[in-house]
Amino acid sequence: MNSLIKGANGLVGDAPPPVLAAVSGAVGLLLMWRRCQPGLVGLAVMVGFVAAFTPASLAVAMYTIGTAYRKARPLILYTAAACTAVFVSLLTSRPAGNLRESLYTLALVLGMLAVGQTVAFRRDLTLEAQERAQALEREQHLLTERAQVGERARIAREMHDVVAHRITNIVLTANALKVSPAGQSMAEVAQAGDQIRSEGHQALEELRDILGVLTPGRDGLRAPRTPQPDASQLGRLVESAASRGQDVRLKVNGHPEALPDAVQRAIYRIAQECLTNAAKHAPGAVVTLTVECRLDGVHMSIANGPPIQPAAAPPGGGYGLIGLRERMALLGGTLTAGPHDAGFKVEACIPVDT
Ligand SMILES: Nc1ncnc2c1ncn2[C@@H]1O[C@H](COP(=O)(O)OP(=O)(O)OP(=O)(O)O)[C@@H](O)[C@H]1O
Ligand SMILES: [Mg+2]
Repeated sequence: MNSLIKGANGLVGDAPPPVLAAVSGAVGLLLMWRRCQPGLVGLAVMVGFVAAFTPASLAVAMYTIGTAYRKARPLILYTAAACTAVFVSLLTSRPAGNLRESLYTLALVLGMLAVGQTVAFRRDLTLEAQERAQALEREQHLLTERAQVGERARIAREMHDVVAHRITNIVLTANALKVSPAGQSMAEVAQAGDQIRSEGHQALEELRDILGVLTPGRDGLRAPRTPQPDASQLGRLVESAASRGQDVRLKVNGHPEALPDAVQRAIYRIAQECLTNAAKHAPGAVVTLTVECRLDGVHMSIANGPPIQPAAAPPGGGYGLIGLRERMALLGGTLTAGPHDAGFKVEACIPVDT
């Protein structure tokens, strides 16, 4: 068609117009497959160009080649093929080819190839930017998820430490009242009642602190109302265990009160969980709690013998030691726990930067 409009020529330029129109139309139709087979269609259009001088079709085919290939080698090869087609068309045209028209065609074809390349380059850049944004979004999502999982684990640990310890104490104190009601004076019964009330009160206070973190008020996150436990409260922890009838021997070497807050809290929570465990799983057993501040960090050991009395507290969910291990992992420390000399022993080591 192009040849008819332009009155130009080609190998079959002197054929009757219907033949010329059919060849030009066939070359144009080939472009329908240019996206799936850009190279093959390009070569076929070049042949069609030599036959019927179809510069528009050749330009479109070269544009598609420009968008489809990124490497220099195929681009150079197709450019050379297009130049050859234009040159061959100039030599073989009937009637004779026109040099000006051929040069114009060459410029158009190469220009379209360059436009195709630019479009492909911009498309690649956009795609790359989109992929980078998606990867960033995915990474952000993962980080948020990890932070949420970490926070959930932290809250679960705190809940366990507060609830399991306090409720076990309440159950054990109430059980002592039930077991020997006759052997206790009114003063002892009143003291036990007081202990139950105080444990329940503290459990509520500590739970409110945790819930305060979960449900921020109007002024943002609420600060804890109960002081965070630290190493200076170890003595009180042991006294409280002794008041429920537990025989605990505490040995402290060094000054754990001078250690960082997170380390002190870990020391307290380990002691708290292990004393609760001993009261639950080995009632009546003597417990030895040792805290040693060494140059490389704090070493703790909590050991108890076999149970002497029948178990008084219900079995737990098995989260205590897991929570302690997680706490240790966050501080870069280690915790081992297991049967020892017919009893049980927990050893923890928390590194401290000096
Ligand atoms: N002092 C101990 N004496 C004997 N067995 C113990 C002692 N401490 C822990 N264990 C054993 O190790 C298990 C795991 O302890 P862990 O503290 O993780 O769970 P738990 O005390 O049973 O439940 P939770 O702490 O969730 O209330 C216990 O179920 C118990 O069998
Ligand atoms: Mg426990």
